[in-house]
Amino acid sequence: MDPLLLLSLIVLFFCFLGLSWFAGSDAPFVASKEKLYLPILKSLKMKKNKIFFELGSGDGRIVIDAARLGAQAFGVEQSWIRVWYSRYKAQKLNLPNAYFCHGNIFKRSYIHADYIYIYMLQKAVDILEQKLKKELKKGSIVITQTYHFKSWKPFKKSGNFYLYRA
Ligand SMILES: C[S@@+](CC[C@H](N)C(=O)[O-])C[C@H]1O[C@@H](n2cnc3c(N)ncnc32)[C@H](O)[C@@H]1O
Repeated sequence: MDPLLLLSLIVLFFCFLGLSWFAGSDAPFVASKEKLYLPILKSLKMKKNKIFFELGSGDGRIVIDAARLGAQAFGVEQSWIRVWYSRYKAQKLNLPNAYFCHGNIFKRSYIHADYIYIYMLQKAVDILEQKLKKELKKGSIVITQTYHFKSWKPFKKSGNFYLYRA
């Protein structure tokens, strides 16, 4: 094969990888900052084995921190690259209670969730508000970041984060 053609294909492949790292259908990948979300997670004083879901789990950092705090923590993410990367990090940190599922957040049920974390664009948050209002058990807590529920009243606001109780 022509070396120039091969080089172009390699460059194209890495461009594709780079672009797909940031892509997301209902929100592009923008990571939450640990120094902002960690105090919120800690303030929840999650009991061992409570079920934590992150909808659109990105690079897995929040699920991993929730698992460190003792929760059975699940991330749902549509990017395979980010799911593999997150699983790799959880394995390296020896966190068998951090799980990463590949899929669409709207096609899953959250009836067993005790905590849900959402950082999505407004259109997705609006759909999730309706879905979670119907699905969540009484007492479950939802955390939204930057884009919030429109009709569900938060019981706490802290910077960019709003907390709601079902
Ligand atoms: C704004 S980022 C937030 C990442 C992470 N939650 C955080 O706070 O660091 C949104 C993430 O949701 C994912 N995402 C977007 N639409 C999705 C969908 N319909 N189903 C699953 N994941 C989705 C994107 O791939 C991206 O990783």
